[in-house]
Amino acid sequence: MRALLTKLEQTSALDRTGDRLQRVVQATLRPQRVRDLLHGVFLGHPLHPAMVQVPVGSWISAAVLDLMPGQRRAATALVGLGTVSALPAAIAGLNDWAALSREQRRVGLVHAAANTVGLTLYAGSLAARLRGRHGTGRALAYLGLSAASAGAYLGGHLAYKQGAQVNQSISELHRIGEGWHPLADMATLPQRKLVTREVDDVSVILYRHGDEVTVMLERCPHQSGPLGEGEVTQIDGHACVVCPWHGSAFRLNGGEVVHGPSGNDQQILPTRVVDGVLEARLP
Ligand code: FES
Repeated sequence: MRALLTKLEQTSALDRTGDRLQRVVQATLRPQRVRDLLHGVFLGHPLHPAMVQVPVGSWISAAVLDLMPGQRRAATALVGLGTVSALPAAIAGLNDWAALSREQRRVGLVHAAANTVGLTLYAGSLAARLRGRHGTGRALAYLGLSAASAGAYLGGHLAYKQGAQVNQSISELHRIGEGWHPLADMATLPQRKLVTREVDDVSVILYRHGDEVTVMLERCPHQSGPLGEGEVTQIDGHACVVCPWHGSAFRLNGGEVVHGPSGNDQQILPTRVVDGVLEARLP
C-alpha cells in the first residue's frame, strides 16, 4: 500500500485533469469571503475535516441500522442526511484542494473521485429506499460506504503523511528552549516594518507599532512560506502580514488568520522589554 501511495503522489498523468479542475474551482468559488468561509478562517481551523463528520457518522450509523430489523425509516433518514450534508463538505474540500501542492493535489484528486463515487452510490441508495426497494438501497449503501472509506483512507494520507492543511509552523515551537530569549534593542527596532530574527534557529518576525512589538513565527502555517518576505497591509483596520506564496493573511496583533488558504492562525510569542532589550519566550 505504501508503494502504491508513493506512486500515486508521483503520477503526473493526473496533472492535466487536476490543473483543469483547479482552474474551475478557483473561478467558481468566489469572492475571497466565500473561500475564507470554506477554508475555516472564521474558526482558525480547517472546516472540511469538521464537516465530513456528519456524512460519515450518518452513513456508518445507517449501515448498522441496515443490519437490524424494523429500522428502515431511520436508516433511510440517515442515508438522506449523509447524502445532503456530503455536498457542502465536498465543496469545502475542493476549496482546500485547489491551494495544495501538486503532489498533494494528485492524491486529493483520487480522494475526491472515490468520495464522488460513494456519494453517487448513496444518492442511488436513497432513491431506491424512497421507492420502497430497500434491498437495493442497502446494497448500494454498502458499496457507497466502501468507496467513501477508500476516500477517507486517502484523506488520512493527505493530512497525516503529506501534511495538507495541517499547521506547518507549530512544530517549530518544539525547537525553542524554555526561558526568555533576547531578540533586539528597542532603540534600533524600526516602526511598522517586518524584521526577521532567530530564536534557537527558529525564524521569527518582529513588527513594532509604537511601544508594542509582535513576535510571530515566520514560517507560514499553510505551506511554510516566508512571512518575513510578505507585505504588511491594513485589513479591517488591523495591520496584517500577507504570505508571499499564496496570500494567506495574519493579524500582527494576535496572529489570527484573516484570509486563507491557511485555515490556521499563526503563533505569536509573548514578549517583554528588559533594559531596552526585547525578549520573547514560548507561549
Ligand atoms: S505558504 Fe501558502 S499562504 Fe503561505
